[in-house]
Amino acid sequence: MVATIINGDEIAKTIRKEIKVEVDMLKAKGIDPGLVVIIVGEDPASQVYVRKKGEACNEMGICSETAMLPASTTEEELLELVDKYNKDPKFDGVLVQVPLPKHISEERVLLRIDPSKDVDGFHPMNVGKMLVGADCYLPCTPHGCQELLMRSGNDPAGKHVVVLGRSNIVGKPVACMLIQKAKGADATVTVCHSRTKNIAEITRQADILIAAIGQPKFVKADMVKDGVVVIDVGVNRIADATKKSGTRLVGDVDFDEVSKKAKAITPVPGGVGPMTITMLMKNTVQAAKVHHGLVEKC
Ligand code: GUN
Repeated sequence: MVATIINGDEIAKTIRKEIKVEVDMLKAKGIDPGLVVIIVGEDPASQVYVRKKGEACNEMGICSETAMLPASTTEEELLELVDKYNKDPKFDGVLVQVPLPKHISEERVLLRIDPSKDVDGFHPMNVGKMLVGADCYLPCTPHGCQELLMRSGNDPAGKHVVVLGRSNIVGKPVACMLIQKAKGADATVTVCHSRTKNIAEITRQADILIAAIGQPKFVKADMVKDGVVVIDVGVNRIADATKKSGTRLVGDVDFDEVSKKAKAITPVPGGVGPMTITMLMKNTVQAAKVHHGLVEKC
């Protein structure tokens, strides 16, 4: 079997058109959705993500600001800045890029974001709402994975989804979303992690495999069954002497091998990546609607 490529760029483009229509509608009512992205330190990958978030805002007509703080910023200074943006009506979304420098508690910072402005869906209040299946801001990467499945005709309902990884950003929330009794979910989910025994035995049972462990090309052809649907969340930079930069991006899945067995697979780049930022734009528009009383509180 030769896999269908699930084209994240194309699917994201379609959703961005839908979002743009909503932004234009809000603007016609005098509502200007706004997002502030706070980044602390010089992590190059984070800087790329933050730049892309700003570019996506521009493309959608969403007002955006980026607060770039030095790595030496104290936790108290960061908390004060979060407070300032929480109060500023110009911004519907307040996002703090993670990871943060080690001397800052991610937990305390995320807890400080106004839950109604938590467009990342990282605040424990939104995480809790997601767990019980209430309306909330869904975390962007897991939501992007779900949209990729649905819009490529791979509804997870009744399927065995195996998630590789248990991070707070992807593994845990995507598993939680897909077990809900809801459209785009209703799956049977197994979560594997660094202490799981016989991982390949479990991954071979997957109808849908979601890989989010940050290990370049970890998933090999002998770890999947024929006809599996693969969502590769990994973004790993590896050495490649044939490239001008000397490096290239690969996922957590060995694409060349696994795509020969899979029914469908996301590439890296061009799979999950563009979806994450698109879902962030969607949450920001939702937050603007919440703040202007157009929808029930999220
Ligand atoms: N770091 C990696 N992914 C994300 C994300 O979706 N949001 C934030 N705030 N930080 C991240």
